[in-house]
This record gives sequence, C-alpha cells and structure tokens, in this order.
Amino acid sequence: MGKETAERPGWWRGAVIYQIYVRSFADGDGNGVGDIAGIRSRLGYLRDLGVDAIWITPWYPSPMADGGYDVADYCDIAPEFGTLADAEALITEAHEHGLRVLIDLVPNHTSDRHRWFLEALDSPPGSPQRDRYIFRTGSGPGGHQPPNDWQSAFGGSAWTRIPGEDQWYLHLFAPEQPDLNWENRRVHEEFVDVLRFWLDRGVDGFRIDVANSLVKDQTFPDIGPDHPDVLEPTERVDHPHWDREGVHDIYREWRLISDGYPGERIFVAEAWVPTPYRLARYVRPDELHSAFNFDFLRCAWDAERLRKTINDNLDAMEQVGAPPTWVLSNHDVTRHLTRYGRSLTTGRGPRTEQLEPIDVELGLRRARAAALLMLALPGGAYVYQGEELGLWEVEDLPDEVLQDPTFHRSGGNVRGRDGCRVPLPWSGDAPPFGFGPDGSVPWLPQPPEWKALTAEALRGDTASILELYRSALRIRRELAGFGDGTLRWLDGPPGALLFERDPTLLCAVNLSAEPFRLPAHAEVMLASGPIAGDLLPRDTAAWLRRPTP
Ligand code: GLC
Repeated sequence: MGKETAERPGWWRGAVIYQIYVRSFADGDGNGVGDIAGIRSRLGYLRDLGVDAIWITPWYPSPMADGGYDVADYCDIAPEFGTLADAEALITEAHEHGLRVLIDLVPNHTSDRHRWFLEALDSPPGSPQRDRYIFRTGSGPGGHQPPNDWQSAFGGSAWTRIPGEDQWYLHLFAPEQPDLNWENRRVHEEFVDVLRFWLDRGVDGFRIDVANSLVKDQTFPDIGPDHPDVLEPTERVDHPHWDREGVHDIYREWRLISDGYPGERIFVAEAWVPTPYRLARYVRPDELHSAFNFDFLRCAWDAERLRKTINDNLDAMEQVGAPPTWVLSNHDVTRHLTRYGRSLTTGRGPRTEQLEPIDVELGLRRARAAALLMLALPGGAYVYQGEELGLWEVEDLPDEVLQDPTFHRSGGNVRGRDGCRVPLPWSGDAPPFGFGPDGSVPWLPQPPEWKALTAEALRGDTASILELYRSALRIRRELAGFGDGTLRWLDGPPGALLFERDPTLLCAVNLSAEPFRLPAHAEVMLASGPIAGDLLPRDTAAWLRRPTP
C-alpha cells in the first residue's frame, strides 16, 4: 500500500468513497459489460476526481440473477469481469493511486448455483448440508403451502418448494438467492475464511449487503398483512427477519478479524432500519465502522426535514462514537437528480403510476447544491458513479432490456432498478460513449442526450457538475475542518440551512423559493451555481470562508 494511504489514522471517518457498479462502469473487453480491466483503465480518473476510496459491487462468479448479488463463489472473480489475478492487480494499482478498495460482501444469501446449495439439494432433509440454508416443511396437507407468509423483497412468497418434497427453502430476495442459516457455526467459519481471503489480498474493507437480515426468528412466525418493503423499513420491534439482536454478535466476530490486520480495514453496513438509533447499534465501538444513512437519501428537498434528518443522525452516531456516513444515490434507488426534479421524495425506483415528467434543469441545480451540502457535513460520504456527471435515471428503457428481478417478479408493476444502472458515458458523441470500444453495445442502452454529459465533455468546463465535484473534493482535502467532526447551526431565513465548522467553513444552502443574503464571510470558496452579489439564489449552496474575528 502506498505511503500516503498507510499513514492516515481513522482515514475512514471522513472518507469520500466512490461506488463502482462493475457492470456499468467501464468495459475493457468490449462485450458490453463493465469489467476489472475497465476499472483499471479509469483509476486515474478517480484519483483526479479526488475520492479516497472505491467500493466495488459484487465481482464474484454469479449467474447474475440479481446483478451479481447472487454469489456462486466468494473467493473468485466472474469470468466476464476478469480473473483473480486482475483483481489483485487492481487492488495494487488502486493503492498506488492512493485509493483504498472496498468490496461487497453478501452474507445473507448465496446463489442457488453455489456449491453449498447444490450440495444441500443433493442431500436429504435434516442433513448437515441442508442445515447451511433455511429449509422448512410446508404448511397445509402434504406441505403444499409455504411454511409461513414471509414475502420476498422482489415480490411473491419468500419460499420456494423443492420439487417432489414437502420441503421449502427461504429466500428473502429472488428464488435464485437462498438465505444462509446463520444459526449454523459452519456458516460463520466459512465467512471468516472469506474475509481472510480478501483481507490477505489487501482489500481495505467490505460493504455488507443487507446487514440487517442475517438472523431470523427461529419460530418462523407469520408477519401479517402489512409486510413492509425492504427500503421502507418497519418500525416494528422484534421483527422476525429484519434487524434482530443476533446480527450484532456476527459483527463483533468480524470486527475481531479485521482488527487483526494492519492498516485499518473497515466495514460499512447496508441496513435499511427505521431510525438512526437502530442504525447506530451497528456501529458501536466493537462492531462495524460505518453504516449508510439512508434517511438522508430518502429525505425530501426541504430545509426543515433535512435539518432534522441530519441532526438525528449526528446525535445517534455521536452516542456511539461513530462518524455519520451520507449518501444520495446508489444502484438500488432512483438517481437523486431525478428525485429532486420531481415531487417524488422517496429513494425507491419509480412505480409506473408515479412517472410524471421531470424537470432536469431543476434536478441538476438541486443535485449540485446537495453535493455541496453532503460534502460539508461531518463524517464520510459515498458518491455513486455518474452522479458527478449529472446523470439522471433512465426511465424509458424498453421492457425487453430490463434485467432487475423486481420488474419480472412484480408482474411489471415496479420497473425496478435498471434505470440507475445504465453504463457510464465517458467520451465521444454516440453510444457506447467510450464505455467500451467503438462498436461495442452496452448491456443497457444509453440515452443519446448523454453525449453532453460524458466525462470528456465536462472535464475542464468550470460550470460543469464534474468540475464542481472535483473542486469540492480538492477543497475538502486541502482545508482543515471537513470530514470527521462536528457542526454548529446558524440562524437564517426560512428554507435556509446554515452551519459552520471549525476552523474555516460556513456552508449555506437555499431551499426556499427566494434568494437570501449570505451571512458575513471573507470569501466564497465554492458555489453550486452563480451567485448574484451577496444573494444566494434558490436551490443553490455555497461554501464560504468565515470572516476572521
Ligand atoms: C442489497 C443490494 C441489492 C440487492 C439486495 C439483495 O439491497 O444493494 O442490489 O438486490 O441487497 O442482495
């Protein structure tokens, strides 16, 4: 690992981490699907962007029933993405660029093609092989009905029957994603081996997929009619499969493993839980390091609601001594430019009936302001690939190209998440926009309008969102007082978010309909849009240097 990365203690407390959705980032071999060669060819871009680390979504061998979140082997690389040697080279090169590398760990379920599941199917009920998963006898005469009423997050029952048996297996996601049985010690041991496998290869951490679902109520009770969806967590305490107490023992085990490695290897939890106080339980000192704050992502573009969300999260994290972790978009939700460009406020992929036209210009203005807000807040932040280019959700993909299991399992009612996974535009005037070599066909079609949003087109244009991100990340690195720490709110007009951070920064965001006068300052360091004199226009944010006393 490079010198620079090795010597910053607590690096993760204020890190900005760039999420790479492998299939859609960059395609080195021209088969239409992003890969490790593509990532390696763009490391210079990421270093110049100014992020501290990358998180790579699952790159393991997988039938891709859920974009790779159906893992068939945790200790290898999917052939369409490259080889293990390519992954090792990527880790080394990223470190040489001063970038740390997080990978995605998927412990709740495997692929139904994983050796463990194939062995389970080949073994009789009650066997140790079956005990790696959650098999139960069906209900009703002959076991013809599922064991209980649990629903898959992608729609339909969470149980699938084994042909010719009264046995059913649990899958909280797609049927191709059988849930592991975390009551079984062997499962624990096998995941410790997986952690070590990658830690030994130099990864700096793991993003933990659905970290709140691993432990299930062993009585498997019915949940009842108002079963929540995964992104809209229930407030119910003692839910049979979300956010159960037992998950924390697993993370205490894992923390002991990562702490045994040099150089601060970290975990970030994906846990959709109802309150920041539930989230804070995942990042107690002997558990995980950080956890995405999805309340911020879900929050409407509204000053009072944002202030409350920010405060509640700061308060909850402070109680356990963990840094907050902010995020606006990821590969599961509608891109925030689109969310902010229409009245839709949740992070959920649009249901067809909610499709009203978006105001791209408004969405972009707000997305720019939101970036400065997020990057000024105490703690760390994640940037989802393409948000630095101002990409919007592609909502008019033809049905026949959609691959998200949500679309098919909901009978087409929920379009799903493909619209935020469209391959990135890098350069040129026409698809594939440098995503792959000329003539290659990206796995999802790119809108022709994206020719104005390629990295090449935006680079060097000081008015572009890419240069805004680059400037913000540069200032964040150079100036003391960003990242880990605290903030102080200042009074302002309705619709204003004003806060300062020691020793220098004053952040002002205007979410009202009218311009307001900027508070006293020595200098405007950066603004998300043009500022007229001392007036901050609507949907604009500014980073000000505080006046010297
Ligand atoms: C997480 C992932 C999502 C995946 C699901 C099942 O929510 O982010 O993409 O479908 O887990 O693994």
